[in-house]
Amino acid sequence: MLSYQHIYHAGNLADVQKHALLARMLDYLTRKDKPLSYIETHAGRGLYQLDAAEAVKTGEAEAGISRLLDDALLAQDHPLAEAIAKTRDTHGPAAYPGSPMIATHLLRSGDSLTFAELHPQENAALRQALRPYGAARSTRVHQQDGFELALSIAPPTPRRGLLLIDPSYEIRQDYARIPGIIAKLHRKWNVGVIVLWYPILTDGAHKPMLTALQAQDLPGALRHEVTFPPARKGHRMVGSGMFVVNAPHGTEEEAARLTKLFHQLS
Ligand SMILES: C[S@@+](CC[C@H](N)C(=O)[O-])C[C@H]1O[C@@H](n2cnc3c(N)ncnc32)[C@H](O)[C@@H]1O
Repeated sequence: MLSYQHIYHAGNLADVQKHALLARMLDYLTRKDKPLSYIETHAGRGLYQLDAAEAVKTGEAEAGISRLLDDALLAQDHPLAEAIAKTRDTHGPAAYPGSPMIATHLLRSGDSLTFAELHPQENAALRQALRPYGAARSTRVHQQDGFELALSIAPPTPRRGLLLIDPSYEIRQDYARIPGIIAKLHRKWNVGVIVLWYPILTDGAHKPMLTALQAQDLPGALRHEVTFPPARKGHRMVGSGMFVVNAPHGTEEEAARLTKLFHQLS
């Protein structure tokens, strides 16, 4: 039974780290005039309204992307800012793009996009959010387990590309499974950029997973973590992290900029 709904957390500080780094990597990868594959294992619904009751209730977006935009802390020419502006042009001033929508705005007509989203309502909402772009993009949305989908299509065609793994970690075993899944994906697709997002919780649940990932000594591996105050008193998430295999050129610089930004925010 899946109960996680990203609308409560869309645009929070963890999304800022994830989406800023993702947008920068996609921006870099699309500079070369060669098509690429973009895959997501846990896509979410792709489009959020930050004035929706759920988002207002937690106030996470207010302390996250809304604060960055209000205080001009995200450069207007940052690819994430461009994806937000394009989303707002079509869906209004409170709209915020999830990762599938960010990729849809930053990728080109010859690129191929594949998404897995298991939750029936989130899956239906994602299909609807991406429908207006259907004619201009080669996009497939699957309602199946994202890890299974990724393993079944790696290596994709085109072979150049990026895979985002962004679970909600509702299933505690995900922490233990992920290093093995990433090792398998890398064996099947050695040129693929594999990007994992994880929460930093007060109980340090992510630590054994990171130890196992780093022990694999994968090429171009980059680990980036930021910390921030809990969204509410007693909330267990106090930061977030990204682990990237075959990190594209420029990822390290963007990670360093984000580290500075998060220091500034706190
Ligand atoms: C953190 S949210 C995704 C957010 C999205 N990547 C973004 O940044 O906009 C995780 C999503 O994974 C979905 N999900 C959970 N388990 C899944 C699975 N095994 N396969 C595919 N999707 C799953 C949930 O329904 C939820 O919508």
